[in-house]
This record gives sequence, C-alpha cells and structure tokens, in this order.
Amino acid sequence: MPDGNRAQFAVSEAGEVIESEPRRKFLARLFWGAMGVVSAAIAAPVISYLIIPLLRPGESNDWVKMGNIADLPLNLPQRLEVGRRVVEGWETDDSQVTAWVVRLPDKIYVFDPHCTHLGCAYRWVEQEKQFFCPCHAGVFSLTGQVVSGPPPRPLDVYAHEVREGALYVVPTPTKQVV
Ligand code: FES
Repeated sequence: MPDGNRAQFAVSEAGEVIESEPRRKFLARLFWGAMGVVSAAIAAPVISYLIIPLLRPGESNDWVKMGNIADLPLNLPQRLEVGRRVVEGWETDDSQVTAWVVRLPDKIYVFDPHCTHLGCAYRWVEQEKQFFCPCHAGVFSLTGQVVSGPPPRPLDVYAHEVREGALYVVPTPTKQVV
C-alpha cells in the first residue's frame, strides 16, 4: 500500500532515479510558499509607507496657537508670527502664520496682515495710533476700520479663541462684521 507521506521515486530506463510526482508537487509548494513569505516581508513596509500616511488625519490644519494673552499689552497692537506645520498624507507643509493682534480691555481683534486694498503689508504707527499702509497711504483705526485712503473695507480678521490663557487663530481672512 502506498504511503502518502513518504517521497516516492521511480527508476528510468537508463537506470536513473527520478523523483515521483508527489515529491515535485511538494517541492513546488514549498518554493512558492517561501516566495510568498519573502514577498510579504518585502511588500509590508512599502505598503505601510504608502498607505498609512493617507489614513492619518491631517495635523494642525485649523487652529494655530499664537501665544499667551498675558504677553499682549493692552491697546498696543502686536504683530505675531509663528511657524505652522500641516501634514496631509505624504505632504508636509511648513509655513508662517502672521497676524496683527489688538488686545482691548473687553475685546481682542486678530487681523489678517494684508491691506484690504491691494494686499500690501501695513504697520502700526504708535504716534498716530493708527495702522498705515505704505502702498497707497491707506489708514485704519485700532479696530481695523478705514480712516482714509483707498481701502474698500475694514481690515480682514481671523477667527480666534482663547483657551487656557492662550490665543488660537484660524489664519483664513474673513471680512470683518461691523
Ligand atoms: S494696498 Fe494698502 S492702500 Fe493700497
């Protein structure tokens, strides 16, 4: 009676011992099994490198911490600039977030740093207590209202929140609601 687990051999007409069919099949399965294990070992890190970043949620996409409220002097606008890193899939984007922050006793304004006329950078002139845009002499008040010049609307603002004494902003310019 043939033993299914034992390798079987045959002898050719020339007297050579040749492997029987079950042994060849066994070796083929062993070979392809080993190839499968090796392929999986090679593919796993590649797949995880390609796929996992796509599954990871973006980091730091919206709110940006600008600093502590206690560090902002009252009634004296401060130009704040902080680094921001946004990670989307494989993409990492490092940029700067800039804002003019005005801390009043009862309110905080966070302004986009671009003039609402043609987007120039404006600055605070302490002697005049006004923001001044050097491009076309646009002037804005402490609360961002147009005082004079060509700007068509008040300074744009960023949404902001104060959490545990820190100021967070979403650096997307929004028209100021007057
Ligand atoms: S860009 Fe500011 S006044 Fe024109």
